[in-house]
Amino acid sequence: MSHQDEQLTEQLTRAAQARFGEPFTVPAGLTQATELLRLLTHSSHRRWTEQTVAPELLKLLFACALSAPSKSDLQQADIIEVRDREKIKAIAAFIPDMPWINNAPVFLIFCGNNRRLRQLSEWRGKPFVNEHLDHFMNAAVDAGLVLAQFIAAAQSVGLGTVPISAVRNHARETSELLGLPEAVFPVAGLCVGYPTEGGRIIPRLPLSVTVHTDVFDETDLRAQVDAYDQRRHSVFPLRQQRYAALYPDAEFNGWSEDKARHYSQPERADFGEYIRAQKFSLK
Ligand SMILES: Cc1cc2nc3c(=O)[nH]c(=O)nc-3n(C[C@H](O)[C@H](O)[C@H](O)COP(=O)(O)O)c2cc1C
Repeated sequence: MSHQDEQLTEQLTRAAQARFGEPFTVPAGLTQATELLRLLTHSSHRRWTEQTVAPELLKLLFACALSAPSKSDLQQADIIEVRDREKIKAIAAFIPDMPWINNAPVFLIFCGNNRRLRQLSEWRGKPFVNEHLDHFMNAAVDAGLVLAQFIAAAQSVGLGTVPISAVRNHARETSELLGLPEAVFPVAGLCVGYPTEGGRIIPRLPLSVTVHTDVFDETDLRAQVDAYDQRRHSVFPLRQQRYAALYPDAEFNGWSEDKARHYSQPERADFGEYIRAQKFSLK
């Protein structure tokens, strides 16, 4: 094994262990796996240098992202590059606790687009009879894949990103600003820029919780989540207790306490109504 491959094996092992808190063995003969290292060391970024992103690079990244697989080759994901600073400001103003939106050199909105398919049906004189929830989901999944592929591609050339689902907090207003027609909907925004600092590997739930063999398995789930809370807290303790005014002081403010608090309050309860208004019946 070359010195470089040895180094990479060591880095892959360390990164996977840091993320999942369990031992990993990198298979022998795995060479030039730098892409794996990039995926394992993924982190979101929220602070940017002044450096702009070259339009040619951005175009190349769009091409990489839109090379993602697409359900039945239907190609139901679109990207809106929001260049108009006034529009970015208006979107950022809906979400004042996320200043990274307005500060990002590039701001994109990844959309599900079921409109084109409906147009094809009309142009080709065929009925469009798949008006149901699965159909909405196909477009949403396609957009998610394109988003993920954009993130990976951007990271591979030294850019940092952070997705922004908070654009859905004001989906109707965002839609109006961007002129989204019926059957097109925002899945997430994405801030893109050159990050001011390296990322952090935020621990994820152990693979024993999220990867199942043959059957869905929740054995020891609660104990495993408790252990994850502790492991994560030892690396990245949460600074604040969420909704502190609503709940008594938690003795231990771990990830699960934070997520339970998070989802104890309604979030985007009006999104379904917005989607139905975009002419998805969700039957
Ligand atoms: C679909 C999606 C939406 C997200 N929305 C937001 C958001 O609105 N604001 C934000 O700051 N981060 C957002 N994030 C980033 C997550 O908070 C982040 O991925 C998570 O905390 C894990 O951190 P990491 O990406 O650094 O590993 C989003 C991530 C995803 C995948």
